[in-house]
Amino acid sequence: MVKKVHPKLMEPIEAENWTEGIERPLALFNQVEEKPVYTAELANHSVISARQFSREQVIQLCRLAAKFETQQSFGQFPLTGKILISAFYEPSTRTRLSFESVWQRLGGDIISITDPSTTGLAKGESLKDVGEMMNHYGDVVVLRDANEKAIYEMLEVLRIPIINAGNGTDEHPTQALADMYAIFKWRPELMMDEVTADNKITIGIVGNPGRMRTVRSLLIFLSRINQAINEVVIVCNSIESFSDGQLEELEAEGLKIRVCSDLNTELPGFDVVYINAIAWVGNTYEEYGVEYKLSKSSPLKKGAIILHPLARGEELSTDLDNTKHNWYFAQARGAVFARMALMSSIVRF
Ligand code: CP
Repeated sequence: MVKKVHPKLMEPIEAENWTEGIERPLALFNQVEEKPVYTAELANHSVISARQFSREQVIQLCRLAAKFETQQSFGQFPLTGKILISAFYEPSTRTRLSFESVWQRLGGDIISITDPSTTGLAKGESLKDVGEMMNHYGDVVVLRDANEKAIYEMLEVLRIPIINAGNGTDEHPTQALADMYAIFKWRPELMMDEVTADNKITIGIVGNPGRMRTVRSLLIFLSRINQAINEVVIVCNSIESFSDGQLEELEAEGLKIRVCSDLNTELPGFDVVYINAIAWVGNTYEEYGVEYKLSKSSPLKKGAIILHPLARGEELSTDLDNTKHNWYFAQARGAVFARMALMSSIVRF
């Protein structure tokens, strides 16, 4: 058999037109007045929960993210000489690679652990002792750990900031920041203090808010823009959809929430559809709402956007990828700029 050269190898890869789609971050950037005090408050702070952020901080971080996204190169390298300790004890495609990409693009260096069994943890070393060592090796830690308490143990001994990149089923605040950045690029007017009734949005979340860390953090951020939201509809077939006190906390923050179980009846009313079907638990994952599926033939509202933290499964058909509903790839791309905004605010000179 004659082996052929793959046709993709015959042509050079065309350079991406970096200005394509730039009008959206530009519109966001132009809509928000710079208030550096809000990002300056984050300097030398750890980030564990979405609860730590005010509406103004989220908006100013998104403004800064838009500033990064509208630049072809980052000119200065604010993280030169700084070392990121990237500790991912759970699988990750986007979070680890985007944090590491951000750090390098801003001039910093990285040391990483992707398997705790290659560290003293395998010999019974405590997390606190590992944290004590990290103080001397790097300037910021990014941690993903299936044990939701691990980050709090590390926090006790660390004298450098630690960023939560997913702690068990608890939270994933930087993913939620990326989600907010996507929503604000889609509709910058949602950042305003007053949003007219016509402009308010209804958000459908297909997932389990008690078990999915991405949903938990996103709901907290959505409560920060309750002035722009008609209601959040949770599409979930599990009776115990919220964890203890979660719904009460969100309602006390002013978020109007309803739970339903019939996706296709509700779908035509959703401006934003956020879908996820898995929660990582320990060394494996739990699936939720496997009967809920989105495809090109779903009764989506005209102009509705779909967000997904990814990795996706059968809940999100690839036939949506080439439609205008697909905002999940833009959401993942924007995560780089959202994390750039956050890291450059935390690490100050
Ligand atoms: N969204 C997200 O957390 O993706 P990864 O698991 O690939 O990091």
